[in-house]
Amino acid sequence: MTTEHETIAVVDFGSQYTQLIARRIRELGVYAVIISCEKGVEEVKKLQPIGIILSGGPSSVHDDGAPSIDPAIFKLGLPVLGICYGLQLMAHLLGGRVIPSKHREYGRRAVNVLPNSRPPFTGLSAETTTWMSHGDQIENLPDEFKVTAKSDSCPVAAMHREADRLYGVQFHPEVRHTTDGTPFLKSFLYDVCYARGGWTMELFEQEAIERIRAQVGDRHVIGGVSGGVDSSVMAALMGRAIGDNFTGIFVDNGLLRKNERLEVENALAGKLGVHLHTVDASDLFLSALKDIIDPELKRKRIGNTFIEVFQEEAKRFKDSRFLAQGTLYPDVIESVSFRGPSATIKTHHNVGGLPEKMNMALVEPLRELFKDEVRALGRELGLPDHLVNRHPFPGPGLAVRILGEVTRERLAILREADAIFLHELRNSGWYDKVSQALAVLLPVKSVGVMGDARTYENVIALRSVDTWDFMTADFSPLPMELLGTISTRIINEVEGVNRVVYDISSKPPATVEWE
Ligand code: XMP
Repeated sequence: MTTEHETIAVVDFGSQYTQLIARRIRELGVYAVIISCEKGVEEVKKLQPIGIILSGGPSSVHDDGAPSIDPAIFKLGLPVLGICYGLQLMAHLLGGRVIPSKHREYGRRAVNVLPNSRPPFTGLSAETTTWMSHGDQIENLPDEFKVTAKSDSCPVAAMHREADRLYGVQFHPEVRHTTDGTPFLKSFLYDVCYARGGWTMELFEQEAIERIRAQVGDRHVIGGVSGGVDSSVMAALMGRAIGDNFTGIFVDNGLLRKNERLEVENALAGKLGVHLHTVDASDLFLSALKDIIDPELKRKRIGNTFIEVFQEEAKRFKDSRFLAQGTLYPDVIESVSFRGPSATIKTHHNVGGLPEKMNMALVEPLRELFKDEVRALGRELGLPDHLVNRHPFPGPGLAVRILGEVTRERLAILREADAIFLHELRNSGWYDKVSQALAVLLPVKSVGVMGDARTYENVIALRSVDTWDFMTADFSPLPMELLGTISTRIINEVEGVNRVVYDISSKPPATVEWE
């Protein structure tokens, strides 16, 4: 990780909100890095942070093996803000007493901030709404700490020892339900840590370009381009940094959406002049998928074929010793996170094992960014909104949306239905309101009637979900009228479909994709 800009170190104790803390800090103009509590104080020091935040976490400080950190962290002369578990740990390590509270507090809670407050508590209104989620609470403060806020059921909703710039809050300022969360964090950054701010995407872009140039010099780099947002932004950035010394290898697996390949080629090669090498490998993928019905086997075949094709194409650029990838921060963090809800998140590996197999050095210019930051960078680089704001699309493409065998004919049906669905969502303004929308081709046929004739045709299921993290999701409440329009168009325009249904299951127990 770099230390060129001001950095806040966010020490992770396994909270599902840790990433959110880092994002909020970045939104406030200061770079933030998440570091597992297991890495210890030395690693924190290496970041040369201007301040430290201890995250929440699912444990109690009294649990066996509860995550902890060397109390030396409080003696670095740096401001420390403990949030929820971070506050309890601070109290526990500094000689206070933490006990299970009679009532577990969960949800919105009114908090009273005591009069004459000092920063960062000046960021809070005297009476403010906060988001709480804790079982334990502080009974005795550590030496010289003062209570700065309380709620009806929580006598220490916030505390500080100002002389040492140690602060703790029982609530979650990073969660939107905490009304004054942002002004509070802002005050911590600017009034307590004396941040200068100014961390922007433009700055990131310049630094990223310099780093890429420093890493690869005048040598050639290849990278996989899939049509998704991450690899498109990666390619645009590589092109900006090293021009024709970067070649994006775009493997068209034949499982892309309608016009997807063209759109990506136009945006990258056409508009931005990125050197793209496109391979039409659809025949190969389709023959690898022949007769395959089992979804896991489909994924495996697609993954293997991708590696095969990519390796073969890479031979054309045999002087390349660098492989660029669009890895994002969440992918990086999930592999370092302390156990806790954030560590159990399933990751999808699209290109598993490629870097190892290719024996190449990795260039990962996006590995410090969150998804919305990648989108902002994409805009900065001149990629069209249409591409940058795309919903996620799985690596194995439409194959996971065709239940049963994947054939050219079935792909054509799904592609048309999907295109109509997305077109109508865009037209009605719903595309940007929902998190992900998709059409699925089911492996059943049903009876219908068209004119005077009986039909026996395919069913298309439409799915649209609203979600924050894709771990849980609700179906989107699309207007009936819109669903009606979409259904009519699909049945009229897509040959081979006589029935359309809307999926109203939430995740869990259902997933987003049907597979
Ligand atoms: P599920 O179906 O597990 O999907 O609820 C959650 C999110 O992950 C996407 N997804 C994938 N993304 N490669 C990807 O890059 C994959 O293999 C893959 N499978 C599912 C899915 O579209 C949804 O956004």
